[in-house]
Amino acid sequence: MELINVARPTVAVAWYIMFAAMALHQHPQCGERLLAAEAHYLDYFVEEVRRFYPFFPVVAARTRREFESKGYRFPKGERVLLDLYGTNHDPRLWDEPHTFMPERFRQWKRSPFSFIPQGGGEYLDGHRCPGEWITVELMKVAVVFLSTSVRYSVPQQDLRMSLSRIPALLSSRFLIGNVQI
Ligand code: HEM
Repeated sequence: MELINVARPTVAVAWYIMFAAMALHQHPQCGERLLAAEAHYLDYFVEEVRRFYPFFPVVAARTRREFESKGYRFPKGERVLLDLYGTNHDPRLWDEPHTFMPERFRQWKRSPFSFIPQGGGEYLDGHRCPGEWITVELMKVAVVFLSTSVRYSVPQQDLRMSLSRIPALLSSRFLIGNVQI
């Protein structure tokens, strides 16, 4: 069981690094801004990767007591789902949610309820992922490496993504070739 708890987050972070590589491929102008070390751009880029690409679509729970929220009544013992992907793409919270736009995070007013790639609320008093900051730091190291320390080509491949797979995955994963360090 403990081994799974080590393996699971390690694999999960690798997934986001794959999406970051995909974002660098699809948005080469982001790579240029990273190369220029534009202030805070690395932070914005990593956050946008976590917002934009699908990972866990939902988290599930069961209500402990009956309550009402925003006009909905939740009976005790009901199975409920929190839509992580939907919240991160909700047009009431995000302008042009289906556009990859790291600089949106410059304006972003931090809220633990609108940006929830790794669960909602605060991790200190809820179940939001406590590994979020480690994830972000590992992604930053990987993005700096991919954009400044290594050259590679991206061969023709199937980069479609199925949202019905959990976690979502690119059909061909993300293959790179001619790697030069
Ligand atoms: C891509 C990286 C990761 C993703 C997408 C992810 C996602 C999640 C999600 C969705 C939850 C459930 C939140 C909820 O129930 O509201 C969770 C919980 C958790 N995560 Fe992560 N996680 C990642 C990386 C990590 C890392 C690196 C660690 C540890 C170093 C970690 C440790 C945990 C733990 C211990 C919980 C359970 C928290 C609790 O139930 O109180 N995760 N994670």
